[in-house]
Amino acid sequence: MVKTLISLLTVCIGLLLSAKDVYAGEVEVLHFWTSPGEAVSVTELKELIARRKHTWKDFAVVGGGGGNAMQALKQRVLVGKPPAAATIKGPAVQEWAALNTLANLDAMATFDHWDQVLPKVVQDAVKHKGRYVAVPANIHRSNWLYSNAEVLRKSGVTAVPTKFDEFLAAAEKIKAAGFIPIAHGGQAWQEFLLFESIVLGVNGVDFYKRAFMDLDPSALNSAEMRRAFDVFRRVKSYTDSKSKGRDWNAATEMVINGKAAFQFMGDWAKGEFVVAGQRPGKEFNCTPAPGTGQAFSYVIDTFAMFQLKSWEAQKAQGYLAYVLLGKEFQEKFNLRKGSIPSRRDMDLSKFDDCAKASARDFTMSEAAKTLVPSVAIDMSVPTVTHAALQAVISDFWNNDAMPSSEAASRVLLAAYPKK
Ligand code: GAL
Repeated sequence: MVKTLISLLTVCIGLLLSAKDVYAGEVEVLHFWTSPGEAVSVTELKELIARRKHTWKDFAVVGGGGGNAMQALKQRVLVGKPPAAATIKGPAVQEWAALNTLANLDAMATFDHWDQVLPKVVQDAVKHKGRYVAVPANIHRSNWLYSNAEVLRKSGVTAVPTKFDEFLAAAEKIKAAGFIPIAHGGQAWQEFLLFESIVLGVNGVDFYKRAFMDLDPSALNSAEMRRAFDVFRRVKSYTDSKSKGRDWNAATEMVINGKAAFQFMGDWAKGEFVVAGQRPGKEFNCTPAPGTGQAFSYVIDTFAMFQLKSWEAQKAQGYLAYVLLGKEFQEKFNLRKGSIPSRRDMDLSKFDDCAKASARDFTMSEAAKTLVPSVAIDMSVPTVTHAALQAVISDFWNNDAMPSSEAASRVLLAAYPKK
């Protein structure tokens, strides 16, 4: 830890003196950004790293949501060969830091005024016991609903629904018009994401906080949770029979090419619309998931920096940390990724209306205390609890015979397993 701190100080001095090749080294980065939209976002980072003659070693693990990547990371750390950085987030950052595997970035943070430019929730996501151990690349919002404007028009749906009952009525019209109402990616993490938006939309922010932040038993197994499962099942009836196993970006593709009307997804999906040349408010709409307009469920992608032995590798790692929070990267990357920058002092004039709405709603939700961590996308509960909750939600989705009451009682058991 001490050595890493000294090395990061050296990097800071190097940056001030703007030294060039002296500081070149290899930086290995584990990530899971392999969809078309995600891949172009990563390219922006690779280019900035190459500018200082550092070598980027790509450690990309296919699999949306990052579940496979997290397994690969465990293997590498276990054999004593961690990558320089890995895209991990939420409680997983705390868990890796508690194992004393992460570098201390405080020297860099002080040098670059991170405390002054980062919102509080972002700082909390990258600090462990008050020390910076990771760098935030962005702020995603998970409670979005994407829709194909032409499909809605052809189905006679005149406005994007803002409540779940309106949403189900619109889905019925879309089905009658011969389209797939909802493009669903049938993977457990995507089922969890959809369920999270339903809980938030049907039961509100206070209930969400009690259930998925406080893990309050009286919320986990409750009438509200059963109601959310009931809506979840009705929503399922508007998905197609081939959704099982489908990747999230394949589902986005169905909305892009007009096979399906809607997709519930975080704003990484916007990256796919952009790559396909579509524009918000024209070919597609981005609106908050029904009932969640006053809330913002956040996902902060962070690059955790692992402790490294070699001096050169530490220097390249320090440069990566510096670049990640720089305004140039924050703009270029987030324009492609669909998210908004993690720092407050950015000019958003190049961003589209979805991103501008996201930035506005983030600030509004922060003030109104309706900003919540996405439980589905790994931001809220310990990784073990996350896995157990996700399994129950996905089992319910895939088993039409399971009553909502059984699902709700299993949600409680997932959070509090009997020993
Ligand atoms: C999330 C991640 C996003 C996006 C998505 C799909 O976990 O935070 O950046 O990549 O998975 O892969």
